[in-house]
Amino acid sequence: MPHLVSLIREDVATVMERDPAAKSRLEVFLCYSGLHAVWFYRVNHWLWNHRFFLAARWLSQVARWLTGIEIHPGAKIGRRLFIDHGMGAVIGETATVGDDVTLFQGVTLGGTGKEHGKRHPTIEDGVVVGGGAKILGNITVGKNCRIGAGSVVLRNVPDNSTVVGVPGHIIFREGKRVVITDPKQIADPLSEALAAVVTEVNKLRERVHRLEGTESGPEPLSAQLQQIMEDIDYQI
Ligand SMILES: CC(C)(COP(=O)(O)OP(=O)(O)OC[C@H]1O[C@@H](n2cnc3c(N)ncnc32)[C@H](O)[C@@H]1OP(=O)(O)O)[C@@H](O)C(=O)NCCC(=O)NCCS
Repeated sequence: MPHLVSLIREDVATVMERDPAAKSRLEVFLCYSGLHAVWFYRVNHWLWNHRFFLAARWLSQVARWLTGIEIHPGAKIGRRLFIDHGMGAVIGETATVGDDVTLFQGVTLGGTGKEHGKRHPTIEDGVVVGGGAKILGNITVGKNCRIGAGSVVLRNVPDNSTVVGVPGHIIFREGKRVVITDPKQIADPLSEALAAVVTEVNKLRERVHRLEGTESGPEPLSAQLQQIMEDIDYQI
């Protein structure tokens, strides 16, 4: 609580850095509902931790009426959270959000409705969650991940990954294009089919080579196919 003013200063500076639309500190202070919601949350979380549960919940409802953003006072949120636009964003009671996280409007850090105890996600430092994305259950989204707008994420995501789609699947990891082929890791029938086709093509190429009985290896792949094979990281 005594740090609230310095946290507010830091939050305003963060928005000036992250949002090219922000023109002045005063504008950010007055007009950014995402910041207002986080400032309410800081007070509410203090009340919650001091067992003023009803006051904390009631004030979080007031914050929701004013900002359109619902942050449960029991959630654990790090420094410099920026909720851009914000309307419809929901952060559940047992969610944990690290430092330097950005959420857009309509993001849900929620439960699946089936769990008890820790039932909301952990979002690690530096994550960006696109508009409308839903991250559900007691899962962890690793550092510096990017979650695409509209995704529904139901499984752990390793650091430095980009996830899109419903259900969410990884498309980039550590800057490299990824095709996930382990069905236990992420269910993506298209990726599985693609991996099966690639394996089959390789087998056929070997077979043709054997039948031709030539000394040299199989015909080299076309430059385009070669490039695609090299660019893709098949996580088998
Ligand atoms: C996921 C995201 C971070 C990826 O950005 P990127 O790294 O530049 O990736 P690309 O745009 O090159 O897209 C890579 C592939 O993912 C697909 N893709 C990108 N975003 C997607 C999304 N949200 N849902 C589904 N597929 C998506 C692209 O079509 C592309 O597919 P392809 O290679 O088969 O053509 C970005 O698209 C996104 O959704 N950002 C959120 C922004 C947001 O919510 N803004 C709100 C402003 S109000």
